[in-house]
Amino acid sequence: MTKRRHTAPRSRRRLDRHALYEVAVQGVDWDLDFLERVWRYRNPAREPRLFREDFCSTAALATAWVRRGRDRRAWGVDLDPEPLAWARRHRLPWAREAAKRVTLVRGDVRQARRPAVDVACALNFSWWVFHERTDLVRYLRAARASLKPRGVLVMNLFGGGDAERALVERTRKRAEHSPDGTPLPRFTYVWEHASLNPVDRRLLAHIHFELPNGRRLGRAFTYDWRMYTIPELRDALVEAGFSHFEVWAEGWDARAKSGNGVLYKRATLDNEDTWIAYAVATR
Ligand SMILES: C[S@@+](CC[C@H](N)C(=O)[O-])C[C@H]1O[C@@H](n2cnc3c(N)ncnc32)[C@H](O)[C@@H]1O
Repeated sequence: MTKRRHTAPRSRRRLDRHALYEVAVQGVDWDLDFLERVWRYRNPAREPRLFREDFCSTAALATAWVRRGRDRRAWGVDLDPEPLAWARRHRLPWAREAAKRVTLVRGDVRQARRPAVDVACALNFSWWVFHERTDLVRYLRAARASLKPRGVLVMNLFGGGDAERALVERTRKRAEHSPDGTPLPRFTYVWEHASLNPVDRRLLAHIHFELPNGRRLGRAFTYDWRMYTIPELRDALVEAGFSHFEVWAEGWDARAKSGNGVLYKRATLDNEDTWIAYAVATR
């Protein structure tokens, strides 16, 4: 008689696309450091307390926000119940008492929310889901209405010559742990631009994960986005009533031939390769 195994061998375990996504794409502390920095530029006299992560998916930022201070609270808003359930199961129990200060909301970010917060964000280009400008402006109006006076909204977007081509970009990722402590294998994160239509600027993109032993999670995530430009976003923010708009982007380390990890306020950007910009709008 063979003994029953209590845990499947690592090679047969179901791949958790949310856990792999977080390792592949998200830089939670880097993002939060930046959000706090831009808040302080606008509000030097007061620490931010209330935060909303729009398009929150697994609420990585919202949870990390409340862990930065006992007086902090955060809301995460997403339409899809599946990643919210993942957050409740795999993230919040490990945040212990801080989890009580996170509220997950299943809903549309185009609806204004209460209470108004100090800082809100829409990161990893999620707002590109709005193919029509009227939907984008509706979102921005709701986001503004849900900010306190002098509150900031941070969104990011990308572009540049290289980003406007069909491309497949591969990045190796080290073995890590998911938020509940489950070990994740090392893997390759594949970012694919399948097509970009210049008529409506619709970009079809996929995320694939390649794991050891030839395992592959193809099209783990697919995005049908409208690739807005920076001036299009600025004009929509002005129309939605925001009073102040800035563009920030990472500096370049010429010796390492990579970004230097620090975001600077910019009036110009090099459009040759791919740029990622952070738009900071103040209520
Ligand atoms: C790319 S994921 C964002 C993941 C994570 N927040 C990040 O920064 O990497 C986009 C999320 O937006 C959600 N979403 C799309 N349209 C939405 C809407 N109108 N209101 C709220 N959430 C929406 C999707 O369900 C999805 O979980």
